[in-house]
Amino acid sequence: MALREVLTWPDQRLLEVAADVPLVDDAVRTLIDDMLETMYAAPGVGLAATQLGVPWRVVVMDCRDAEGERSPLALVNARIVDRAGTVLWREGCLSLPGVTAEIERSERVTVEYLDRDGEPQRLEAINLLAVCIQHELDHLDGHLYLDRLGLLERKATLLEYDDARAEAVAS
Ligand code: NI
Repeated sequence: MALREVLTWPDQRLLEVAADVPLVDDAVRTLIDDMLETMYAAPGVGLAATQLGVPWRVVVMDCRDAEGERSPLALVNARIVDRAGTVLWREGCLSLPGVTAEIERSERVTVEYLDRDGEPQRLEAINLLAVCIQHELDHLDGHLYLDRLGLLERKATLLEYDDARAEAVAS
């Protein structure tokens, strides 16, 4: 396993649309392991391959509660097949360090995907896990949560991001 660099905004590779993985092989499993290690080290609750500059439809997450055991989840070629309800959630993103924003998401989603063995799976998720799935799958389509904000809020969040980055460089 290896730590990999997480791309940050405005790296244009974050805007790429990822392609389906044709075969879940050892290269994909190595990518999944690297993504999980990178996510835990950050630390974060989710990571998309797009954020490492790899244009494949692979996401990882771990949305356990603070005291829970690690429960890593890797989704390959995931598709949301059903959604219901609406929820406002304050989200952060490893590609936008230092800022967060409230984003409207579906409260529940059903997702179909391949697991790390290439087996088809179906998962029903609610609240944090549902939000996390939607956030990470957005990355695979070249979207950051910024794209779900109104123009003014997007601008304010990016100004705050620039300030946070300037401070990080200065300190
Ligand atoms: Ni993100």
